[in-house]
Amino acid sequence: MGDAHELGDEGTIRDATFEDLPRIVAIYNESIDGGWSTADLAPVSVASRRAWFEARDPARRPIWVLERGGEVLAWVALTSFYQGRPAYDRTAEISTYVGRDHRGQGIGLRLKRAMIAACPRLGVDVVLSMYFDHNPRTQAINERLGFVEVGHLPEIAVLGDQRRGLKIGLLRIGE
Ligand SMILES: CC(C)(COP(=O)(O)OP(=O)(O)OC[C@H]1O[C@@H](n2cnc3c(N)ncnc32)[C@H](O)[C@@H]1OP(=O)(O)O)[C@@H](O)C(=O)NCCC(=O)NCCS
Repeated sequence: MGDAHELGDEGTIRDATFEDLPRIVAIYNESIDGGWSTADLAPVSVASRRAWFEARDPARRPIWVLERGGEVLAWVALTSFYQGRPAYDRTAEISTYVGRDHRGQGIGLRLKRAMIAACPRLGVDVVLSMYFDHNPRTQAINERLGFVEVGHLPEIAVLGDQRRGLKIGLLRIGE
């Protein structure tokens, strides 16, 4: 993101570095327990996320962290949709993960809003958000940010003894 984005007492949003990867993975793993945010069912290893991390492109498909008091509390990433198919070059999926102890304080909304504001210079016209249909926080944030719900794939995931659906939110940048 070039210069870090200072938020005063609320922290700093900056590009993730390789040193952040263990914390990024730990935050991701904290979301698996609840069974309502990610399709992974068991903790992932840092090594297994290395290729994903190395594929990031700060100029087009960045991973940002929110840091406060020297601690990374949350992260947000843009990933290419159907990578390698050029017609989708200006479409990206957004993913946001906030550490367990810091949820519900507006951090997810703030990070997502900041990434969306950067989309014009990141070459992104369309942002997609894929989330389980029982994830009320993502739904609430998306509504606030103007995402339109364009899809609902009912009961396509199996989490424990329950089937869950996937919703697709779409935001056109500049509309
Ligand atoms: C989803 C997540 C990123 C949201 O970030 P956050 O910092 O916790 O969320 P915020 O505090 O910015 O906003 C939460 C919103 O959800 C609303 N909310 C919280 N609990 C809710 C509930 N049970 N029902 C309805 N809305 C709820 C809040 O009111 C708030 O909306 P508002 O700003 O309109 O009042 C975060 O909780 C997280 O990392 N969860 C686990 C991982 C995850 O689900 N990631 C998304 C994968 S698709």
